[in-house]
Amino acid sequence: MKRIVGVKVIQLDEVGSTNEYAKAIAHEVPEGTVVVAKRQTAGRGRKGRSWASPEGGLWMSVILKPPRVDPRLAFVGALAVVDTLADFGISAGIKWPNDVWVGGRKISGILVEGKAGEYSILGIGLNVNNPIPNELRKNAISMIEFIGSKLPLESVMNRLLMHLDGWYRVFLERPDLLMAKVREKTFILGKPVIVIEGDERISGIALDVLDDGSLLMDIGGQLRRITYGDVSLRLF
Ligand code: ATP
Ligand code: BTN
Repeated sequence: MKRIVGVKVIQLDEVGSTNEYAKAIAHEVPEGTVVVAKRQTAGRGRKGRSWASPEGGLWMSVILKPPRVDPRLAFVGALAVVDTLADFGISAGIKWPNDVWVGGRKISGILVEGKAGEYSILGIGLNVNNPIPNELRKNAISMIEFIGSKLPLESVMNRLLMHLDGWYRVFLERPDLLMAKVREKTFILGKPVIVIEGDERISGIALDVLDDGSLLMDIGGQLRRITYGDVSLRLF
């Protein structure tokens, strides 16, 4: 089977954001092209939040051209990260909607952006050997911190590209199977959570991740579907 993700890899020493770089070249490169940078000077999370991207981490964006910009692409990234971490002996879970956590701390964040009918950019940040800034230490972790020794960044990247390729195919052909795996790896299910959507704070129990990527919550006996979007989720 021909490889999609990683068909071409563009390696940069420094860039503002690999997502921005990927957007700028999306029209000129084949689907599956990856942009990876040693460091980002303006790495971003959702809603313009900044993403710490010093040297030693894996900061990459994959240019994909699926039929539409689908927020479930974030789960392609999250599952590939979870599998990559498992390859290195680290057990991780998905914190809906766009993070991967290890032992109660964030090790990876995913950012999907795109232009309908043109391209989707799947941005992935994974803390590997990079230092975690002091102000984030309470909530963030890196692979080196967990394992206690430095990891070969290129091997981590190669494992990640392989898993991304696999999960992207599942997404295209059997999105139901992708979502079944997401449910299995989402550790918040059955737990009390607060969802912050704009000015609204919704407290309840996270029940399920539905096939369209939304979160089903039980709010005092009432069911409510939270659409995947710019929502934040906190655990009690
Ligand atoms: P949510 O809980 O909804 O995912 P969030 O606080 O994780 O919200 P995001 O926009 O998803 O917000 O992610 C950006 C946030 O991630 C930043 O505000 C910062 O707190 C945190 N962050 C920044 N750089 C890193 C990093 N290298 N590793 C882990 N966390 C980071
Ligand atoms: C988040 O948790 O909100 C998502 C963080 C996404 C960070 C990655 S690093 C590679 C790519 N380039 C960016 O500027 N952001 C994503």
